[in-house]
Amino acid sequence: MSDTHTPSQSKKILISGIKSTGRPHIGNYFGAMKQYIEMQDQYDTRIFIADLHSLTSIQNGEELAQSTLDLAIDYLAIGLDPEKVTIFKQSDLPEVAELGWIFNCITTMPYLMRAHAFKDAEAKNKEINVGVFDYPMLMAADILIHNADIVPVGKDQKQHVEFARDTAEKFNRIFKGDGKSCPEGEELFKLPEASIIDAVETVPGIDGQKMSKSYNNHIPLFSTDEELTKLVMSIVTDSNGGVPQNVYNIHKLFRDEGYLKKLYSENEGKYKALKDALLADMIAFVKPLRDRRAEIAKDPDAVRKLLARNGATMREHTHALMYEVRKAVGLIV
Ligand code: TRP
Repeated sequence: MSDTHTPSQSKKILISGIKSTGRPHIGNYFGAMKQYIEMQDQYDTRIFIADLHSLTSIQNGEELAQSTLDLAIDYLAIGLDPEKVTIFKQSDLPEVAELGWIFNCITTMPYLMRAHAFKDAEAKNKEINVGVFDYPMLMAADILIHNADIVPVGKDQKQHVEFARDTAEKFNRIFKGDGKSCPEGEELFKLPEASIIDAVETVPGIDGQKMSKSYNNHIPLFSTDEELTKLVMSIVTDSNGGVPQNVYNIHKLFRDEGYLKKLYSENEGKYKALKDALLADMIAFVKPLRDRRAEIAKDPDAVRKLLARNGATMREHTHALMYEVRKAVGLIV
């Protein structure tokens, strides 16, 4: 972790953020985290921990700071390579809040009221803070400040990326660059593409429903062997004596289907044996991640330094664009 890599000039830019609310589970891993690892070679990959967004739901300083650091360690442990990926803290690029404010001023309330997240919260009669309402504008700033090409997100975030595109278009219609770092009259913001991570929808929990903390059917990624044993043994099975579908569907994440077909047909109806097989595969998968995590967690200061360095790099990279934006809207006299 000694070197900060320099984001590449020629590769396309990938940006994605993760809220630091709670520990990741197997569903998060196969649903989203793994894709970042797979994309990190191809793109100038920038992954940030959305601590400003987390503030909409966590109002405890110690808890937020700890979960931000934990999440950075989690990502390093699963294989985000700090040589290839710029992993940083959203709040270390404070210009996103500034840009978010500028976007607020060209966005109407009825437009933001169309957001699914806002409508859901309203339907549930939740108390909605202004941060929740305004969430999409900060997210638009997160994306647009990088002039990102691609934004990998789960389906639930697709609308937010569309809001970012709309906002870029709207800004580009109203304001123009002055030609310092882009030709006269050129549009300042690039329209980003969402890349929808379908797997997010398909990782099942121990009861067969979509794996989610809110259903309490999840398997935490960095579980101990004991925790894994308990969770695997409590996977819900029917009593038909055939293939235990819920076990199979989780097993599919760890083994190819050819292998599993054979295993499951040889052990038809033997639920215990099949759960044992799944458990062994899961432990073999989780243990190295857990060990790496423990190793990285021994030196939290190295992680803090990495985040700080990367935050500074990101500020440098967005400096020119922010200058253009300030100039275009009239903040530079
Ligand atoms: N809203 C995203 C989520 O809840 C997190 C996020 C914040 C994000 N800013 C972003 C994702 C920018 C992609 C790009 O998961």
